[in-house]
Amino acid sequence: MKLTEQEEQILAGAEGEARQIALKNMVEYAEALGADSLLDVDCVSIGFPARLPTSLNAGQEFDSFEDSLCYSALATDKKVSFREMKAPKVVVNNASMTREWLDYLGVEDPALYACVEEMDRFYREHGANNTCTCAPYLLGNLPLKGAHIVTGESSQVIFENSVLGARTNCEGDIAISCAAIVGKIPNCGLHLDENRKGTHLVKVKKIPDTTFGWDLMGYWIGKHVKLGIPVLEIDIETIGVEQYKGLGAAMTTAGQIDMFHVIGHTPEAATREMAFSGNSPKEVLVYGEEQEAEIRKMLDWSEEKNVDLVLLGCPHYSSFQVQEVAKLLKNQKCTAKLVIMTAPATIAQARINGDAQIIEEAGGLLTASCPPMVAIWPRNLNVIATDSAKMAHYVPSTQPFKIHAGSMEACIDAAISGKWHD
Ligand code: F3S
Repeated sequence: MKLTEQEEQILAGAEGEARQIALKNMVEYAEALGADSLLDVDCVSIGFPARLPTSLNAGQEFDSFEDSLCYSALATDKKVSFREMKAPKVVVNNASMTREWLDYLGVEDPALYACVEEMDRFYREHGANNTCTCAPYLLGNLPLKGAHIVTGESSQVIFENSVLGARTNCEGDIAISCAAIVGKIPNCGLHLDENRKGTHLVKVKKIPDTTFGWDLMGYWIGKHVKLGIPVLEIDIETIGVEQYKGLGAAMTTAGQIDMFHVIGHTPEAATREMAFSGNSPKEVLVYGEEQEAEIRKMLDWSEEKNVDLVLLGCPHYSSFQVQEVAKLLKNQKCTAKLVIMTAPATIAQARINGDAQIIEEAGGLLTASCPPMVAIWPRNLNVIATDSAKMAHYVPSTQPFKIHAGSMEACIDAAISGKWHD
């Protein structure tokens, strides 16, 4: 490992014990990965894996948030004090517990309230930009081409690598926390040019006609490519942010894929030659009507027509998606529960636009909390409808719920009628 003079000084303790431990962890991690140096990071997206004295975390109780961080973020039992984080930009991308979610569920637990407040306090005092969203790129956290990013949210990883040309691997909690504290990450994987070349060619014959259609295509590509960097050849003028968001999230859910290229669209794929950069495609895949139908059937499988909960916004909805929902819900009332996951800043925007009021009057909830992440669901659920392939994939792996999956329009129809219409 080649360390800079500054890194040697941090290792010797010149910037305090927290940064010393964080850098020691990072050096060990880099060695395990075979990296020969560390990079200065431009932005770290954190969701610290803290354990607080709450009813949820019985058996893992700590006296303070900082003590919890020593254990779970720095992997040490020592009590060290955290100063400002060293990474130039630190964004909180945790779609975690919020008061609105607890209130919606009717949970009255002072320990959980304290947990929410304590996390917010910690981030405020340590200079983090607490966006509370798994899609911070929708809110101005827009790392551009070549920026070195650290995040563990897979949908953010694939979006920022592919659509923005920023560079990030999918990191675990301890690496992310240490990167935030010391501003370094191993120089390997998708931080390097040679690992960003296309590996599979996907010829798209069926251009999706809804945003959910992009999810279906992403899921099919992930399932078939499994591991690699797919290059999409598609005859289309432009692709929207929302479509890229769904495409990438689904692709990384069904496969172990952290990056894709779209020829003529994404920043490292102006041409097919650029996308492959000397690689020959390992395989040429064709995506058409039949492939779309196959994935639709796989994800939309409940035989029951009744729907108890419609869950939208995975990854978190953009402001324009919230507007679309409001248009569909105007002067309507929901029969089923309707939960729309989006950033607090987007909820504030929706209130300015009048969309939040329309959604709430119809009986819907806008929240930053993601039920699978916080692991607290409304009671008595049997069937869930969603417009996200990622959600349709993950929910049944932890919950006994049956799933319908379809477009936003189909989901809102189900929220209003309480039934799924094919
Ligand atoms: Fe975000 Fe939760 Fe989906 S964190 S990407 S809404 S599973």
